[in-house]
Amino acid sequence: MPMVVELVVAMLACVRIGAVHSIVFAGFSAESLCERILDSQCSLLITADGFYRGDKLINLKVIADDALQKCRDKSFPVQRCIMLKHLSKVVEAIPLSSQSPPAKRPCPDLQQEKQKDRVKKIRPVPQVPWNPEVDQCWLSLLSGVSEECEPEWCDSEDPLFILYTSGSTGKPKGVLHTIGGYMLYVATTFKLVFDYHPDDVYWCTADIGWITGHSYITYGPLANGATSVLFEGLPTYPDVSRMWEIVDKYQVTKFYTAPTAIRLLMKYGTEPVQKYKRDSLKVLGTVGEPINPEAWQWYYSVVGEKRCPVVDTFWQTETGGHVLTPLPAATPMKPGSATFPFFGVVPAILNESGEELEGPSEGYLVFKQPWPGVMRTVYGNHQRFETTYFEQFPGYYVTGDGCRRDKDGYYWITGRIDDMLNVSGHLLSTAEVESALVEHEAVVEAAVVSRPHPVKGESLYCFVTLTDGVSFSRTLEAQLKKQVREKIGAIATPDFIQNAPGLPKTRSGKIMRRVLRKIARNEQDLGDVSTLADSSVIELLFQNRCCGAM
Ligand code: PRX
Repeated sequence: MPMVVELVVAMLACVRIGAVHSIVFAGFSAESLCERILDSQCSLLITADGFYRGDKLINLKVIADDALQKCRDKSFPVQRCIMLKHLSKVVEAIPLSSQSPPAKRPCPDLQQEKQKDRVKKIRPVPQVPWNPEVDQCWLSLLSGVSEECEPEWCDSEDPLFILYTSGSTGKPKGVLHTIGGYMLYVATTFKLVFDYHPDDVYWCTADIGWITGHSYITYGPLANGATSVLFEGLPTYPDVSRMWEIVDKYQVTKFYTAPTAIRLLMKYGTEPVQKYKRDSLKVLGTVGEPINPEAWQWYYSVVGEKRCPVVDTFWQTETGGHVLTPLPAATPMKPGSATFPFFGVVPAILNESGEELEGPSEGYLVFKQPWPGVMRTVYGNHQRFETTYFEQFPGYYVTGDGCRRDKDGYYWITGRIDDMLNVSGHLLSTAEVESALVEHEAVVEAAVVSRPHPVKGESLYCFVTLTDGVSFSRTLEAQLKKQVREKIGAIATPDFIQNAPGLPKTRSGKIMRRVLRKIARNEQDLGDVSTLADSSVIELLFQNRCCGAM
């Protein structure tokens, strides 16, 4: 669903009746949605007719229908789909006569709306396919329903929700959080990390499709009775002052966003920020990826005018809530450091052999004991939970992030050290993108690595080996980008695709990604390449590099 209040209502309604929700980000493809429906064995889908991303209309119902058809093809028919009329409330509905099957007749509410609404047409509304055997309108379901709904009494360890996050094997993992521990943890971290007071107006710009939106738009703020701004839109639309305009309009006191948004807005200078007063702001938060000191300084000095502490909160879908974070005005800040662990969280830094390092050091970030908000399992695959997080270093929870501790004990996240990429704060698995690429008939092998990006943090650099006889062309490049977009979603669209007649491999056939990362960054010093089976591919790959700003 888009970022509408009904999304929060739907989540809370599930909780009320003891149902488990699994929110899928509205930017995902039908294929990704289908994969998540199948894995979670979901029985009901809730969606909306569509939404606008800037000027672009996203036909959500069409994507949802496509996903449901894919599920049916895999012998998993979902019996019900509830659709919220979102766009059609404000603009005139388009006649539905031009629809193709399986649409049989229009959503009854849409038809009525069309007749009675004399609202000016602003932008086109989505074409809504309608299958009366499956589809139901949100509004018509509400009419005539009692306002009383006894809650389903649950155990504190009963599941609250499943949220899928990328896994390094390519298949997303259904991270499962339970009711008691998660609620306690997000309520407490929200209160302390944002120094919440009842007169605050809080705004988190994340999408509820990600964990930040679950923990710090829905559950944490609401458990504290906080007043929040819920924003459906883009930070740059209709112009780059949008965020600060909203801050002034609603007198936002606590503001939480991602480094990628800060870097994006930084590009436009200080004028769009200074057009607005922002004098209500008290605390600024950041999450999702390491924040570079330059972006931190801009956020602190330009946006917060050096009045507002910046809380750089490190956490993961799996951790439920903040695990390394400053407490505003209490923790002395260092730009780019998530500072210290939250209460009850015990981090450690390990070396390759799993030994704990003391004092200033760098290595694998792990946690030594659980805290209430930690995930309980990977839905339907507890073995995968154990293997992913506890096998490499028995007795520790492994984050997958590298980390440095300085002489003052501050923690500095250095980024992922597994086969994951962080694009604009969204985790992607290289394996997932690779398998989307090799599904194209022209590609026999693909290897995806990260390359630094000035706004997105990291970008996807893909090496593809083509089928014999196929030559690399702009058309093929465009087709491959489209293929990944359709298989996974727009966030996974490759930035660079390079023709790789051969890939650097060890004698046992393992792709040397470390070497590919260097080639993507044009770093000539490749380190030890003695295990390389055929070193002649290297020169060729350097010659064929894709250029472009880093
Ligand atoms: O690499 C870390 C990065 O985001 C990863 C978690 O991604 P996800 O589960 O999608 O959750 C994102 C929102 C909590 C981490 O493993 N990350 C998150 N916050 C920070 C960060 N890296 C550095 N500093 C942060 N503050």
